[in-house]
Amino acid sequence: MSNQFTRFFIFLSLLAFAPSFCFSSKSSSTNGGSLSPHFYDHCCPKAQEIVKSIVAKAVAKEARMAASLLRLHFHDCFVQGCDASLLLDSSGSIVSEKGSNPNRNSVRGFNVLDQIKSALEKECPHTVSCADIVALAARDSTVLAGGPSWVVPLGRRDSRTASLSGSNNDIPAPNNTFQTILTKFRRQGLNHVDLVALSGSHTIGNSRCTSFRQRLYNQSGNGQPDNTLDASYAAQLRRRCPRSGGDQNLFFLDFVSPTKFDNSYYKNLLAFKGLLSSDQSLLTKSQTTMKLVKQYAENSKLFMEQFAQSMVKMGNISPLTGTSRGEIRKNCRKINS
Ligand code: HEM
Ligand SMILES: *[C@@H]1O[C@H](CO)[C@@H](O)[C@H](O)[C@H]1NC(C)=O
Ligand SMILES: *[C@@H]1O[C@H](CO)[C@@H](O)[C@H](O)[C@H]1NC(C)=O
Repeated sequence: MSNQFTRFFIFLSLLAFAPSFCFSSKSSSTNGGSLSPHFYDHCCPKAQEIVKSIVAKAVAKEARMAASLLRLHFHDCFVQGCDASLLLDSSGSIVSEKGSNPNRNSVRGFNVLDQIKSALEKECPHTVSCADIVALAARDSTVLAGGPSWVVPLGRRDSRTASLSGSNNDIPAPNNTFQTILTKFRRQGLNHVDLVALSGSHTIGNSRCTSFRQRLYNQSGNGQPDNTLDASYAAQLRRRCPRSGGDQNLFFLDFVSPTKFDNSYYKNLLAFKGLLSSDQSLLTKSQTTMKLVKQYAENSKLFMEQFAQSMVKMGNISPLTGTSRGEIRKNCRKINS
């Protein structure tokens, strides 16, 4: 009897203190199942609002920022899971992922994440992880660009390590073969459908000349342009992407509606006007992905729904959860001392 009372009072006092703890409704910590959309509901109720308002300001200032923030979530999740490893600068034993082949002179948006983090540290110190900020910013960016919304599972913790080699090896390159790209997605637990839907991110944002030049001049080592690239589109691209020089010149990934999150990316693929080799290969290298490209080109709603589902799936890649793994960084660029 008294034992029951004791338990009851412990329960009550836990409730009283609950607002100062972040907790998930499920306790399993083996996979994404332990993340919960309600993770910050009590311990930082304004977290989502704060992220959204700072992302909105940044995107209003520069439309491309939506694309840049969306891409950061992808480049974070594919390397040791969604743990904000990408955000660490080099220091001590940490070699930043920002210097990898896919990231160097290319990834951007870190200043916006810094702004969000410092606002959140003011509102609720040492509470919201950088990994969750990246996941929320990716969702808010998609919505601001006109894409679908989804509920973001939360409760990821931040890594105390980064992996430059992981960044070089695990993130697909634009000139990887279709099979290599699919293998890299499979390794993360993502399938054909996720690959085609998530590649739809290339409906917004930019690419540098250096990421697709090979297609314009010497795709397979025979001195010929890629024969799955529309000839007049290729000629137009060559004007600002010469054989040598102009590496950093920027091009829209979706020339039809470069800042609008819509399904014109897939329509471009059907017209052989995908910018990257990896994009066009979704139509030309596999029956399964070809069918999906056609479906998404025809049915924008289907694309948007699948995109949202696949983003949640990507966001669940090996999060650090519980209390013993990872940490809540105070500054997204460095581990806590
Ligand atoms: C399927 C394999 C993929 C490959 C090979 C790939 C490759 C690339 C490349 C080469 C660029 C241009 C980078 C530059 O030249 O600076 C780029 C941009 C971009 N990627 Fe991907 N990507 C892939 C999948 C994804 C996924 C899954 C997402 C998001 C879920 C994504 C989101 C973006 C966005 C939004 C941009 C534009 C970024 C900006 O304008 O700052 N990509 N990607
Ligand atoms: C892909 O591009 C990289 C960087 O430009 C280059 O070093 C590599 O040889 C290319 N790979 C293939 C298979 O063409
Ligand atoms: C095309 O690439 C191959 C091998 O990658 C090279 O041997 C050849 O000289 C290149 N041709 C031209 C015209 O650049």
